[in-house]
Amino acid sequence: MPGLLPSSKAHLGSHRIRLGGFFLSVLTSAALAAMPSVQEEYRLGQQLFVGDIDLQGRIRTHLADLPPDVVRCGNCHAAASGPEVPRSLAPRLTRNLLLERRPRRGGPSSSYSLASFCKLLRIGVDPAYVLISLEMPQYTLDDAHCLALWRFLTWSENAPKSQ
Ligand code: HEC
Repeated sequence: MPGLLPSSKAHLGSHRIRLGGFFLSVLTSAALAAMPSVQEEYRLGQQLFVGDIDLQGRIRTHLADLPPDVVRCGNCHAAASGPEVPRSLAPRLTRNLLLERRPRRGGPSSSYSLASFCKLLRIGVDPAYVLISLEMPQYTLDDAHCLALWRFLTWSENAPKSQ
């Protein structure tokens, strides 16, 4: 039949389009699945904070890193409404402490963003460019670990998604 060939070609073509769409959606969902969710980032941040995963840090003026056990955040800081750290002068790290504008260390009012939080951890300068005291270690950490710590300390289910 003369009419068969063109119409079956057209049919095949539409299959191809549908298959293309199928592979595109498989690829998109694979890419999304590879991205950690906020909950996964939060969990990673918690593990870094309590020392289940090692951090690399040192006293700002020293040339060598301290043992990971010494530089875990939870040695000095309480987080959110968690238990107090006995005999520590370090502030309790809460969402409000970080996100609210307030004077810190005698400087002008400031609040943290992800970028200024990472800068504080890496070079010891706060959002108002005031140097933090030497007791607070300086860390070598990648963006994913910094984001995870930030999520752990600032995430709330009611918060806008952009944080
Ligand atoms: C050895 C103790 C110690 C450890 C470990 C430590 N900190 Fe600190 N941290 C301090 C002290 C003390 C301060 C207050 C310093 C100041 O005010 O100059 C501080 C201040 C901070 C601040 C500033 C709060 C503000 O209001 O400006 C943040 C944020 C912070 N620490 C996060 C962390 C995180 C996250 C970790 C782990 C990656 C960590 N700290 C580990 C002692 C510590």
